[in-house]
Amino acid sequence: MCGITGIVSLNRENIGEVLVKCGRKLTYRGYDSVGLAAVHEGKVDLRKDVGTVDAVDKLLGLSKMKGDRGIVQLRWATYGPPTKLNAQPHFACDDSIYGAHNGNIHNYVEYRRELVETGHIVRSENDGELCVHAVDKYYEQTGDMLEAVRLSTRDLKGAFSFAVGRADSREIYAVKMGSSLVAGVGNEETIASSDLPSILPVTNNIIYLADGEMLALSPEKVEVYRIEDGKRLTRKPEPTTIDVHAAEKGGFPHFMLKEINEQPKVAQDVMGVLQGAKSDEWLNIIEESKNLYLVACGSSYNAGVVGAYYFNRLAGIPLVPSIGGQFESMYGRALDEDSLSILVSQSGETKDILNVLNLVKSQGRGKTLGIVNVIGSTLMFNADAYIPMACGYEVSVPATKTYFSQTVIFAYLAAMLGERNGTLDRQEAKSIVRMLSQDLPTQAQATIDHTGILAKNLAKTLIGVKDLYCLGYGMTDGVAREGALKIKEICYNHCEGMYSSEFKHGPLSIVTRDYPVIFVTTPEDSWMVINHINEVKCRFGRAIIVGERESSLEPYVSNEVDYLEVPKGNIVLNPMIDVIPLQLLSYFLSVDLGIDPDLPRNLSKTLTVD
Ligand code: F6R
Repeated sequence: MCGITGIVSLNRENIGEVLVKCGRKLTYRGYDSVGLAAVHEGKVDLRKDVGTVDAVDKLLGLSKMKGDRGIVQLRWATYGPPTKLNAQPHFACDDSIYGAHNGNIHNYVEYRRELVETGHIVRSENDGELCVHAVDKYYEQTGDMLEAVRLSTRDLKGAFSFAVGRADSREIYAVKMGSSLVAGVGNEETIASSDLPSILPVTNNIIYLADGEMLALSPEKVEVYRIEDGKRLTRKPEPTTIDVHAAEKGGFPHFMLKEINEQPKVAQDVMGVLQGAKSDEWLNIIEESKNLYLVACGSSYNAGVVGAYYFNRLAGIPLVPSIGGQFESMYGRALDEDSLSILVSQSGETKDILNVLNLVKSQGRGKTLGIVNVIGSTLMFNADAYIPMACGYEVSVPATKTYFSQTVIFAYLAAMLGERNGTLDRQEAKSIVRMLSQDLPTQAQATIDHTGILAKNLAKTLIGVKDLYCLGYGMTDGVAREGALKIKEICYNHCEGMYSSEFKHGPLSIVTRDYPVIFVTTPEDSWMVINHINEVKCRFGRAIIVGERESSLEPYVSNEVDYLEVPKGNIVLNPMIDVIPLQLLSYFLSVDLGIDPDLPRNLSKTLTVD
């Protein structure tokens, strides 16, 4: 979703340079267009166009813009196509009020009409512009910006945050109404932004906000107010230890490759967290619940599918996976006070997931356990308990290390629950925990080292392939879905991930000579998967195998390049290990196709809209 950052300083002249630097850190939230409003000597200079921060900076000289305060916005288009006119920030009717938003204004059509009928000059088709006009409307009535910003939120329906300022005032105001917003207090300057990475270049002193709160930024301080009644709240900045350099590429050509390479360390870090003091609290909340639902989107959902297999295999406990947007209509009425909704989200801001969080909380239908990466996110603050993924920043739009961490979390929880309920004996549970904490980091590293070149060679043979399948069976079901998602997301191919025994129930008809089908398999299941491979091979299709080396599988690959062999290991580790060559395959194919895997078109890392 979009990203906004506003800065107010005492003496800066180079606001453009700082906002570009901070804005660049939000690129993963949107790169359809970028705009910057800088206030210099009481005048607002507003420049914006289609493209990434760097592209628009080059075109319009954003980083050379002078001023001591301003707002930058990065857009992921929802209302109105990605054009210069729809780019943000916007002016209100004249250039005295400027502002930008993140999120969606659901009453866009009615409210735009109302504004136009009452004389407002609304220029774009973008809902963010309405936030600026709403403030303008109330400023005309009250002559007080703080009050105007507060009252404007009554007119705007939806989940959003926005930042707004006046040319003749040194303050910038921001509201948090369902979309993320954090603030920072630096040296003679303050900042508010959609996300921490863009605050860290300015300061480590952070103020976290709750929905329904608003800010007034001045060079000296950040004042926090409750929107409902305008009451001033006391909120002290807290220092964060999050490292600004974690959000840099560290010598890798892309964040995605860096993040794939961080997975061995993620295994260590997340296992450290899981074996820490809070472990019992998390296990208790699961154990005390009767019905377990796993709610997530995209890669997090795919990891959740793996989680369901772990819960069954290691603990004999049913865990029902559901896509976030589908949950209410499929399972909502079945939720009761004994239910636990495990909400998995890297960003902790995905709207589809927050909708479920709100459903459970507003109706008192059981508990929620968040599994979340972004510290300070809405999910982290509002779930009954949360498990951190301990991945540090995941900057690249395609998820890699967070999927990995999520699968480790599920394996650990399942093993511990299995021990508690007697499905596993103590030794079995201990050996799984040892595998996860000791063997997994080494195995993951060996897999990266060994499959990098294999994936690179295989990618070369897939250039020009527009359509393929990626099939899994048993423990590799979620892995295959995740591999397919990576390929379609960053290679712009149609790659469907599905259960391998389902392929014959229709999709098989697509197979003609050399049609590629990737099979992700383990030694435990290959006796069955061979049947599915045969169904493809006897129709002259091309089988590509991801898994351990097995002599029974060798005859099915026509060319050695089609065997993406992973190091031998235990079935419990397969879902983490087998995904690595698929991540690498999609990465190399994307690069070979001339695509930037970190910023695939049309996407955004944080989807705060319905
Ligand atoms: C794919 C990807 C997305 C996210 C999905 C959920 O690589 O990154 O599919 O997994 O948008 O995001 P979170 O986990 O932040 O809720």
